[in-house]
Amino acid sequence: MERNRWYKDMVFYQIWPRSFYDGNGDGMGDLYGVYDKLDYLQQLGIDGIWFSPLYPSPGADCGYDIADYMDIDAMYGGMEAFKKVLHGAHERGMKVLMDLVVNHTSDEHEWFQKSRQRIEPYTDYYIWRPARPDGKLPNNWDSNFEGKAWTFDEVRGEYYLHLFAKKQPDLNMDNPLVREEVKKILRFWLDMGVDGFREDVITYISKPEGLPDDRLFPIYKGMPLYNHGPHIHEYLSEFKRDVLDHYDCVTLAEAPLVWPDQALKYIDEEKGQMDMMIQFQCQCADCFFSDYMPTKFDLRKLKRAFSSWQYKLEGKAWNMLYMENHDHPRIISRYGSEKFWKESGKMLAAAYLFQKGTPFVYQGQEIGMLNWKPESPEMYEDVQTRWQYENAATNKTPEQRLQRLWRSSRDSARTPVQWSDAENAGFTTGTPWFYVNPNYPQINVAQQEQDPDSILNFYRKAIRLRKKLAVVRYGSYQEHFPLDGNIYCYSRQMPGQKLLVLCSFADHPVSLRLPKGFDAASGKLILNNYARPCRKGLRPYETRVYLWE
Ligand code: NOJ
Repeated sequence: MERNRWYKDMVFYQIWPRSFYDGNGDGMGDLYGVYDKLDYLQQLGIDGIWFSPLYPSPGADCGYDIADYMDIDAMYGGMEAFKKVLHGAHERGMKVLMDLVVNHTSDEHEWFQKSRQRIEPYTDYYIWRPARPDGKLPNNWDSNFEGKAWTFDEVRGEYYLHLFAKKQPDLNMDNPLVREEVKKILRFWLDMGVDGFREDVITYISKPEGLPDDRLFPIYKGMPLYNHGPHIHEYLSEFKRDVLDHYDCVTLAEAPLVWPDQALKYIDEEKGQMDMMIQFQCQCADCFFSDYMPTKFDLRKLKRAFSSWQYKLEGKAWNMLYMENHDHPRIISRYGSEKFWKESGKMLAAAYLFQKGTPFVYQGQEIGMLNWKPESPEMYEDVQTRWQYENAATNKTPEQRLQRLWRSSRDSARTPVQWSDAENAGFTTGTPWFYVNPNYPQINVAQQEQDPDSILNFYRKAIRLRKKLAVVRYGSYQEHFPLDGNIYCYSRQMPGQKLLVLCSFADHPVSLRLPKGFDAASGKLILNNYARPCRKGLRPYETRVYLWE
């Protein structure tokens, strides 16, 4: 039977719960706060929520270190508050996606505690190795967050593998018992009524046999060996066959370092094991490989990333579209301009919201929140940021290192959502768990609700247009002038409807040309970010969307 792929018509919103909204005044974002804001999300045009982890966790990686997969952390309101949100979302026709983090657990998870003591059946739940005969680490892999990927455990007398922080030991997915645990987790949430999962670094879960040294990659050693590992498709097929196929749910694969051809092995609608993929190329137009290695912003690189996914997936698989999430600094501060804040915030929205795929909006993106620039490195919370400050670019001065973090830290996108110009940006009546960006008196939801010309109202309008116009959801995609270093221009077409999107990424006026067959005079301007568009050129960060029907 043909699956009803309802996610194709939807727009999702990502909630990073600690910083969304505090409903009980203890300073921490929570599910009471989410419940209070469901109507806000509905008014934005949101059809589904992806929750970053809500499970009990020691918080070494802000919840991506899970201590219990079948519960909700009391600090977010526990299971009762979650069920209320789930119900409230469903009542409004919104879907709810959980974050499935099964590459690793917290070291405080009961499985790890038993595994380190060799208590059966947990002995082989994780990846344990003795030191090499010469006393060296079991292999030369790096972790993504904190130096080498191995830490010695005194209790067990062996090293365990952790591709992320020390407190995030990797599960041994080759153990069938571990795969059964994953299936139990999936069933648990699906039976409760959850509508799907975003699967954290899911391409990492199958490690190569023998865990060989990486002799090629100069940084993030090991990644080419464990990313898309030998049994990955087998394990994902097993999850699909045994669980996912039995529910009406959607899955979203987070995949660092993946190209569209390879993505099809995961998300091809006929042969794949999952539905959509979070790729990183669209985040690499101003850096090399990771945000921590900044380069000058290069629009052509961004356009290549957008278009290669649009073209390669056409007719075979479905794109997940995003500009921001909790792992990257704010997009206006990167690809746009803080000086042309409002213009570039809107332009960046149009640059992705009219592409083919399912868009995700990250909390605060819809009001154009900007990077946070703390005065001191101690103010950072994120484990990766702290490690980078201490260990990378140590030849630079402390000021230079701090400024690098302003640009690259994940914490730039993790400050509380700015709801109003009241104390603490209206995020909490208590003491916020984290710093509030001091620009909240200028950038906040309440102010933008009042302003018809705000970034928030632009998002609302763009989302409404997406839903109204079939061409945005189902038309074919074509990029124009791919070599132009200032303008991103793309069109969407289907019989009877044609759409053209123009986005200037320049901080100065640029001349305007339109692709053949698109005559502005006969088209209807349905969305733009400057009053009275001029015929000759585009102003800084100008965007226009034209429709012919
Ligand atoms: C990807 C998540 O998005 C990120 O926040 C997390 O730190 C790592 N995976 C490890 O779980």
